[in-house]
Formats: sequence, structure tokens, C-alpha cells
Amino acid sequence: MANNTDKPLNHVAIIMDGNGRWAKKRFLPRVAGHKQGMENVRNITISANRLGIKVLTLYAFSTENWGRPTEEVNYLMRLPIDFFDKFMPDLMAENVKVNVMGFLDELPPKTLATTKRAIETTKHNTGLVLNFALNYGSRREIVSTAQKLADEVASGKIQSSDIDEAMFSKNLMTGMFDEYQDPDLLIRTSGEQRISNFLLWQLAYSEMAFTDKYWPDFNEQDLKDMIDQYQNRDRRFGKI
Ligand code: FPP
Repeated sequence: MANNTDKPLNHVAIIMDGNGRWAKKRFLPRVAGHKQGMENVRNITISANRLGIKVLTLYAFSTENWGRPTEEVNYLMRLPIDFFDKFMPDLMAENVKVNVMGFLDELPPKTLATTKRAIETTKHNTGLVLNFALNYGSRREIVSTAQKLADEVASGKIQSSDIDEAMFSKNLMTGMFDEYQDPDLLIRTSGEQRISNFLLWQLAYSEMAFTDKYWPDFNEQDLKDMIDQYQNRDRRFGKI
């Protein structure tokens, strides 16, 4: 359904913002917003899969989020564990494949072990790829890609003149998605209109869609409305 026009929609990326404000509005602690946000990840994943989207990249924890109070950071680091404990049967039933990208060796061991297990359990699924950005920061990703390629030049594996946009893209964390590595559409909830160090390279030609809704309230109809908007826009990649 997402691909019912000549304008493909394969990769959707979402900055899931507004959990804290959702909770505050209800006189609840911030973590209650994150919990509801986690429930919504399940719902939107299933909707996106049924809409024919191939890759859904969700900004779950940024390299800057370590600066939040310890209690909140600990809660956020538990969320993937709770999510996979609770929703793995749904992900399997929906044929969803899990992927995680970010600076993963800095995650608490239990969070890392659980996410690796989820990747392993779902590796043969052929539906939507649910790609969590966890401890992800785009500038750091670009720098580490530059370092990796510089090392390859130093060791003689490649020449500096071999480095082009395609090679650079391939060596970013999204490189594994091949023709789907760049999002077609970026969504940010909660009324903020910033990129916040998310997929800076990959978003070069993406459409952007913003909604005032807080992430826990963002539902399937909102997603469909944004897809409709996207498909009615003329995307020219700089050409006329
Ligand atoms: C931003 O809202 C949200 C986050 C930093 C965390 C996002 C995480 C989830 C939605 C759940 C992730 C689920 C899994 C399975 C990993 P905010 O706290 O900045 O909200 P505010 O701007 O209203 O304070």
C-alpha cells in the first residue's frame, strides 16, 4: 500500500520525541512517557510493516542522551530488554526483522546481550526491518567512517581516490540496507523541527514531516496521513 504510486517509500526514519511532555501533561513521571513510547513502537512497527515499508529506523537513544539523570538513563537502557521480552512473539508473528545500530559496545552488557539475541532470533524474517538507533550520533558515525576509510588507505587496501559517495554510504551504519540505506521520509513528533544529530548524511534528499503530536499519541492514522502527504510531494533530487 505504501508503494501504490510511482514514488517509492521504502525507508522511514522517526525521531520519537515528546515522551516526557506526554507524561508531564498527565502528572506522571517522565519514565511513564518512555514506557508508553515503547508500547507505541510496537504499534507503529506493525502498521509500517503492513503498509509495505521495508526499513523503519527509530531514534531510541542518542549519544547525547547519556547526559540525562542517571535514573532516566537506566530506564531507557532497560527499555529494549522490556520491549523484546514483551513483544518478541508479535515481531515473529509479523515477520519483522530486528537490527540495532549505534556505538553498541558502550551499552550496558544486558542491553547489548538482549538486542543481539533479538537480532539472532529474527534474522530469517523477511518483513520490515525494525532498525533501532541506540547510542547513535551522526557526526560521530561520519567521523568513525572517515577513520575506517583512512585506515584502509594507510594499509594500502584502497586508494584515497577510490573514496566516493557510494563507498562512504556503504561504510556508514546504514550501509547494510543497500538500496534502502537512505530514508525516503523523516518524521519527528512533538512539534520540534530539528535533526538532532540523526542520520545527517543519509537525510540529504529525504522528505521531512513534522507533527505536534507527542510520540506516545502518534498512531497508525497519523502515519498514513504523513505517507499521503509524502506521496503528494514532488521529489526531484535537485533536478527539475
Ligand atoms: C524523546 O522524548 C525520547 C527519547 C529520548 C527516548 C525514546 C524512546 C522510546 C520512545 C522508546 C524506545 C523503545 C525501545 C524499544 C528502545 P523526550 O524524553 O525528550 O521527551 P520531551 O522532549 O517531551 O521531554
